[in-house]
Amino acid sequence: MSTSQATEVLRLDAVTCVLGEGARRVTALDEVSLSLRQGELLAVMGPSGSGKSTLLNVMGLLLPPTSGTLTIHGEDASHLSRAEAARLRRTTLGFVFQHYNMLPSLTLAENVSIPLELDGSSPRSARVEADTALAEVGLEGLGERYPDEVSGGQVQRAAIARALVGPRSILLADEPTGALDTSTSDDVLRILRARVDDGAAGVLVTHEPRFAAWADRVIRMRDGHVFVEDDI
Ligand SMILES: Nc1ncnc2c1ncn2[C@@H]1O[C@H](COP(=O)(O)OP(=O)(O)O)[C@@H](O)[C@H]1O
Ligand SMILES: [Mg+2]
Repeated sequence: MSTSQATEVLRLDAVTCVLGEGARRVTALDEVSLSLRQGELLAVMGPSGSGKSTLLNVMGLLLPPTSGTLTIHGEDASHLSRAEAARLRRTTLGFVFQHYNMLPSLTLAENVSIPLELDGSSPRSARVEADTALAEVGLEGLGERYPDEVSGGQVQRAAIARALVGPRSILLADEPTGALDTSTSDDVLRILRARVDDGAAGVLVTHEPRFAAWADRVIRMRDGHVFVEDDI
């Protein structure tokens, strides 16, 4: 299926996001419009402060747009209640952040299970799905370990497992390879790419052209504006 025929999963229409107050007021996103399709990995590049994280936060329902429309799976997601946004975040969206917030007092498997349990899965079935997701990222058998008992790369993989667990259709990754060595970074990208090829859609913020090359499409941001770079 070519990208142009695939189902649109996420769309921004003239989304503006103003952050801060008074003299610190910044238009972090300025009338941004773009569309993301199933099976597509979109790379977002651009200098620090250009609005990349804000874009991801809006897409991930962590930050409401000041104006404009966010559409997720054909539904207007610009004005959801907190509870509705939280539910969509748990069931549809997967986040991989550079600072991945694995809870240190929970095992890797418990960390990965959290979104499922929050969404009403029994602990037992959540654990089965968590083990599957951990195996998918190469951490089979490490579910009982605590984050400080594995390497930084393994914690990052567990964070990816948590982002992937369950039927998530939109994966949002903000510089997920930032603190990782080369081979772990490649693994993280490979996992993301595989999940997208399997029917999800992904947005990857990265500074590195080498990683952007894994994407189907690259956009570049500057001062809250999006520039279409090319279709690879
Ligand atoms: N919570 C906030 N309050 C005020 N300004 C913010 C806030 N978060 C980000 N900004 C500003 O918004 C702009 C875009 O930031 P960000 O989206 O984090 O950029 P990037 O991820 O590309 O580095 C920057 O000018 C930044 O200083
Ligand atoms: Mg950022």
